Amino acid sequence: MNERDSEIIAQSLMEQGNIETYDVESADVIIINTCSIRAKAEQKVMSMLGVLRQKKKLRPDLKICVAGCVAQQEGSQLLERMPHIDLVVGTQNIYNIPELLDKCNKEGRQIVTSMSDSYQIPKFIPEISSLPSSLTIAPFKKFVTIMQGCNNFCTYCVVPYTRGREISRKKDDIIDEVKVLVDAGVKEITLLGQNVNSYGKANKVTQNDSPYSFPALLEDIAQISGIKRIRFTTSHPKDLSHDLMRCFRDVEVLCRQIHLPVQSGSDNILLKMNRKYCISKYMEKVDALRSYCPEIAITTDMIIGFPGETDRDFEKTMDLLEHVRYDGSFSFKYSDRPGTKSSGLPDKIPEKIKSERLSRFQKRQNQISLEKNKGYVGKILPVMVESIDKSGFQGRSEFNHVVHVLSNISFTNGDMIDVFIYHAGQHSLKACMPEDAQKMQT
Ligand code: 5AD
Ligand code: SF4
Repeated sequence: MNERDSEIIAQSLMEQGNIETYDVESADVIIINTCSIRAKAEQKVMSMLGVLRQKKKLRPDLKICVAGCVAQQEGSQLLERMPHIDLVVGTQNIYNIPELLDKCNKEGRQIVTSMSDSYQIPKFIPEISSLPSSLTIAPFKKFVTIMQGCNNFCTYCVVPYTRGREISRKKDDIIDEVKVLVDAGVKEITLLGQNVNSYGKANKVTQNDSPYSFPALLEDIAQISGIKRIRFTTSHPKDLSHDLMRCFRDVEVLCRQIHLPVQSGSDNILLKMNRKYCISKYMEKVDALRSYCPEIAITTDMIIGFPGETDRDFEKTMDLLEHVRYDGSFSFKYSDRPGTKSSGLPDKIPEKIKSERLSRFQKRQNQISLEKNKGYVGKILPVMVESIDKSGFQGRSEFNHVVHVLSNISFTNGDMIDVFIYHAGQHSLKACMPEDAQKMQT
């Protein structure tokens, strides 16, 4: 979501005649779009701001803007602690950065972190031709935001505070944006939101006076001529409906891949996290997904070492890993975030134990990923070309594997090519053209 927001910021500045550069030395304005989901992300922002303090000393005209979640969370403290920052812009105000920078030039330092429960995500039509070059590395695949914010209040998470209440974008704005992208040659769209499967619920999106839900949106987007692949992220398990699961069977362009964050394998911990499901309910959804679509690749997020996590709780997480056999996962050590309920909980887990549990989890996940990836060896999979290299190209399968392909035929980024998988690694697959398969097998 930050990547998409950065594109929006860059585009709105370029529409005003600015030129994009990633060379800090030649920039007149530096915008840091920040994440505060875990302490580590926030530390990176702070150390980058430390470096920029020196630059500002040498070039007092340089304008420094901090946008996004850290800006929202720290607000005026940032301005107080760091006199070299000129502009602090919260998550609901990024669309106004060009005007705010003008104001900064005229009136001095500014801070805008207002958040409203009735916030509407503005209509913002991407201008493919004006998109910054560094942000169009893959112009054939794009993110489209369909909702923002979150009402779930998982006890460890800052998102409900930094991104505000859950709000769905208007259906027509989303469809218009996808149409513009597809007309400009985009082949793959990833629909973004903190919890896409509750799309349309909080601020009641309707069509012909009936509720309009995420599966309906998916089906409408799938009808847009020229679209080759649709993905979405992220889904909260409690809101994963059978209507949505059926889409993996029925909507042809929907990639058979779902990211379904579970966070822990222990009911005890899930309750303390306020996740609103237990493992048996989660497993019912996993089983149902696989019954609609046996090939579906399932990935997850896991938090290791939540306050009070006992050895037994952690073993339940390891058991879940064996049961589901995720294709991959993102796993993190629990980190205290300001203002969250869990930061006030007792029984914090020592770093050493968190690290040991995390590495055990990751080691087993890597083995499972490798075993699952080996299941593709010998198969022909369609791959979308993402970059060309000396020995062929690199692409992605619909299941989201990176695939390195040997080929002496020249292709263009965005082409969909059938390839023969001859080798599997933990994080990627190797392939050749089907006509060369015999050679690779011998
Ligand atoms: N500590 C560790 N991981 C966290 N996440 C969110 N908040 C925290 C936290 N306080 C993880 C969750 C979420 C992912 C985006 O980041 O697993 O799904
Ligand atoms: Fe955070 Fe939970 Fe909302 Fe995800 S569902 S953004 S983890 S509060």
